[in-house]
Amino acid sequence: MKMLFYAVKEYDRRSFDPVKENFPGIEIDYIAHELEPRTAALAAGYDAICAFVSADVGADTLTILKEGGVKTVLMRCAGFNNVDTEKAKELGIIVKRVPGYSPEAVAEHAMALAMAVNRRLYKAYNKVRENDYTLKGLRGVNFYQKTAGIVGTGKIGAAMCRICRGFGMRVIAYDVYQNESLKDFVEYVSLDELLAQSDLISLHCPLMDNTYHMINLESIKKMKDGVILVNTSRGGLVDTDELIEGIRLKKFLGVGLDVYEEETGNVYEDMSDEIMMHSVTARLLSFPNVMITSHQGFYTMEALAAIAETTLQNLMDAAEGKRTGNDVA
Ligand code: NAI
Repeated sequence: MKMLFYAVKEYDRRSFDPVKENFPGIEIDYIAHELEPRTAALAAGYDAICAFVSADVGADTLTILKEGGVKTVLMRCAGFNNVDTEKAKELGIIVKRVPGYSPEAVAEHAMALAMAVNRRLYKAYNKVRENDYTLKGLRGVNFYQKTAGIVGTGKIGAAMCRICRGFGMRVIAYDVYQNESLKDFVEYVSLDELLAQSDLISLHCPLMDNTYHMINLESIKKMKDGVILVNTSRGGLVDTDELIEGIRLKKFLGVGLDVYEEETGNVYEDMSDEIMMHSVTARLLSFPNVMITSHQGFYTMEALAAIAETTLQNLMDAAEGKRTGNDVA
């Protein structure tokens, strides 16, 4: 079985090549190009393609893949908001993903961002390097006995609930389905109650039509003053322009983002020599209480090994016609 692996990075090869040894029936060709309508024809003759978070797996791409004989799309990530699943079903293309490769990897990064913006670690690091040992601008708050509000208590949100409990926080959550395994220490509340009561809000629900821009000026105004907001889920959950307005209203002690609306095109690229013509991200970064990382929540050794293993197993399952919990189309 031949698989074309789009948008490869060095770390992908390092995690997939050793795991491939356990799947002798699979041949992988790696290319650096991103999957989009212009590059989809490169997959002609392959059984499957493998894509990531910034790929455009919309209707046009899927149609070209189908014309080239591709039967399976393997997302090497949990989110699949960039896949037109209805079109895939219509074309008979199987789409599989890696739903829970290491929820702790992302949840630990969410807490790292919360801690970093709370204690201004990015500022402290630079100050000490410059021989500035003053404390100006570094004051934070204790998380102990504060309220953590977790939006979406699936695999990653549940891990974040456990981490917050470990910090001695009261943990409240909002989800359309309640997670029974958390009931002994998590109190489910409405989204409005969560916004009103939380000192730390961490987003862990998927990006869908009904979650797009769920954090906007109206929801920000319902939050406590001095709240910390963390988003490690998908950029589209937060309306960036209205977040900036909220920051200017001094609502936030800190904002930590691993994902943001403009990230497509930036993610995993070195843009340090580029002149940015228009960027709300740059405006966000001008604030002293904002820290952005570039979609690195998943990036631990354990998570990468699990992604490679599950992606290749997904291909074997697809070839054998096995439908599993990893199917999204
Ligand atoms: P999951 O599917 O286990 O959990 C998602 C939860 O969100 C479910 O409990 C679901 O009921 C809930 N939900 C759905 N609609 C909702 C709504 N309208 N309001 C509140 N909750 C809602 O997914 P998992 O594995 O926990 O991943 C969560 C998200 O994290 C993914 O969708 C993905 O976008 C993001 N992610 C980010 C990574 C990174 O590197 N920063 C890596 C992996 C995932």
